[in-house]
Amino acid sequence: MQNVYLTGFMGVGKTTIGQAVAQKLDVSVIDTDFMVESSTNMLIKDIFEKYGENYFRDLETKILTVLPSKDVIVTTGGGIVTRQENMEWMKENGCVIFLYADPEVIWNRLENDTTRPLIQQRKKEEVLGLFGNRLLFYKQAHITLDTTDLSLDEAVEAVHKAIKTWNNRQH
Ligand code: S3P
Repeated sequence: MQNVYLTGFMGVGKTTIGQAVAQKLDVSVIDTDFMVESSTNMLIKDIFEKYGENYFRDLETKILTVLPSKDVIVTTGGGIVTRQENMEWMKENGCVIFLYADPEVIWNRLENDTTRPLIQQRKKEEVLGLFGNRLLFYKQAHITLDTTDLSLDEAVEAVHKAIKTWNNRQH
């Protein structure tokens, strides 16, 4: 199987959905945030605080290129798409799926989050603005799935189906 890269804004459910889909397909799942944290032995919020966003983006970009190049579902950090080289890498190495959800729904999930540095001390309008700015990047994905009205199970099923269709087209 070609790799699958799940992209989308913070709080859309990439990690949870990716894990469930990987189980269904009996393949491995790797989370780029987890890899960044385990390779540095630091939490993402501490990396941002100590070294800044750009440093985190460098780590994220590096991680992407050293992951296995097939048979893996890669769940990505929400900002990985902002570096064009990352988007190109993902598109060359597999199927990029953008998990969309209505920004209002996303905000409700993120409002009280304490782990994501880009949410801290930001007003709702600012986070929604970031979402808007990112859309242009996310939309470069091969496939867009709107998960706004889907339950977790339905979202998992939609991603599963999209991957199967993608794989059939590759043969
Ligand atoms: C970020 C999203 C986070 C994490 C970091 C930056 C972003 O991942 O990579 O806090 O720029 O959108 P999730 O999308 O898994 O929350």
